[in-house]
Amino acid sequence: MKIDVILGLQWGDEGKGKIVDVLSPAYDVIARFQGGPNAGHTLEFNNIKHVLHNIPSGIFRKNTLNIIGNGVVLDPVIFKKEVDKLAQMGVDITHNLVISRKAHLILPSHRILDAASEQAKGKGKIGSTLKGIGPTYMDKTGRNGLRVGDIESDFRAKYDTLVEKHRNLLKIYDYEYNIEELEADFFEGIETLKKFKFIDSEHLIHQYLSDGKRILAEGAQGTMLDIDFGSYPFVTSSNTICAGVCTGLGAAPSNIGEVMGIFKAYCTRVGSGPFPTELFDATGEELRSIGHEFGATTGRPRRCGWIDLVALKYSIMLNGVTQLIMTKADVLDTFDTIRLATAYISKGKTIKDFPYEIDENTKAVYTDMPGWKTDLTAVRTKEEFPDALKKYIAFLEKELEVPVSYVSVGPDREQIIKVK
Ligand code: GDP
Ligand code: IMO
Ligand code: MG
Repeated sequence: MKIDVILGLQWGDEGKGKIVDVLSPAYDVIARFQGGPNAGHTLEFNNIKHVLHNIPSGIFRKNTLNIIGNGVVLDPVIFKKEVDKLAQMGVDITHNLVISRKAHLILPSHRILDAASEQAKGKGKIGSTLKGIGPTYMDKTGRNGLRVGDIESDFRAKYDTLVEKHRNLLKIYDYEYNIEELEADFFEGIETLKKFKFIDSEHLIHQYLSDGKRILAEGAQGTMLDIDFGSYPFVTSSNTICAGVCTGLGAAPSNIGEVMGIFKAYCTRVGSGPFPTELFDATGEELRSIGHEFGATTGRPRRCGWIDLVALKYSIMLNGVTQLIMTKADVLDTFDTIRLATAYISKGKTIKDFPYEIDENTKAVYTDMPGWKTDLTAVRTKEEFPDALKKYIAFLEKELEVPVSYVSVGPDREQIIKVK
């Protein structure tokens, strides 16, 4: 068996949570491989909306095992909140969630370092979710980090040593903080973590593969936020691309099967950084209000714009995408014209390949297509697709050279159409 992968092709929030939830009945295992509670993955069914941060989106399927892999950074405080919230709804996840011993822990002082660093950057800030993601990955690569497996022995001493390092680091910032007042919640979170089974995910994954179990890896963030290939420095601190599945779960490249790339029928970004198709006008406002484009983790308004095929082609190339999933098609239902960026232009030069740097001189070049002016939210078969939508999909497939396998037409589990 192979590991199939679902990941975002834009700047995050493409609808990964919903699609993982929809596809999870076909899998035995759902595994998160990178990122942490900077993610906000929304699932909707039976008129209830759930937002998951640390926990994989297969959690509502009783027969699905969910794995938090070694590449993830885990905040015990947010984790406990998620576990408690699910328990209040009658969902006990202690039996179908396991956690890699090698996953790194986010400490309260990582969150403080994140906030202090962002404040010091002033106008140049990343627009981080302030969940401590950057400082935790810095400690991982700096070989100072605390891992889930550390909870099993001498944890307090290891914790104190790392916090002492953080106190020294914080001296360079003009930032007021109080670590002690955050510690009670942190150690309560650690107690919650202890209720779960800690695993060596690399061994478990390979065992499952040889047992013929079906595994789906769930990406967080999006390709354009990848630490190596995203719009650096306005990125997150992990490899969000398919390669992250190998390092974040202990899988070999040859274990990878289908790579499902998710994109919105338009584009959004939250936080700072370049966004060549961003709209600053009433059309952008319309996308935001119809699409309810507000961050699932921070509540911040998302920046909105047209679909960007230059960035999408780049993402498809980096991930080896084998099938595309288009979400939020219904958000475009009322638009007369839909625009697609097919190139950029900078100082008179046309750019087709995503460039090293995007500055204010880089402008998008658009192709316009007629909107479908049809309510898609109740559509359940591709035969019902209006002609203009069929043409939009055909244009995307021709430009991107990958088939579209699903189209999502609303937030609910049921609002999905298999196209191929
Ligand atoms: P993720 O981070 O990729 O899981 O995406 P988010 O959950 O942050 O953001 C996607 C938002 O769009 C959520 O509010 C979803 O409920 C919603 N959503 C997902 N698919 C669709 C869709 O096809 N149409 C509409 N209108 N909303 C959708
Ligand atoms: P999901 O999984 C959208 C963005 C932040 C910021 C940058 C760095 O829900 O798609 P960080 O907190 O990692 O230091 O922030 O990345 N960002 C996301 N944007 N969706 C996400 O996750 C994101 N996770 C981080 O807004 O610009
Ligand atoms: Mg999200």
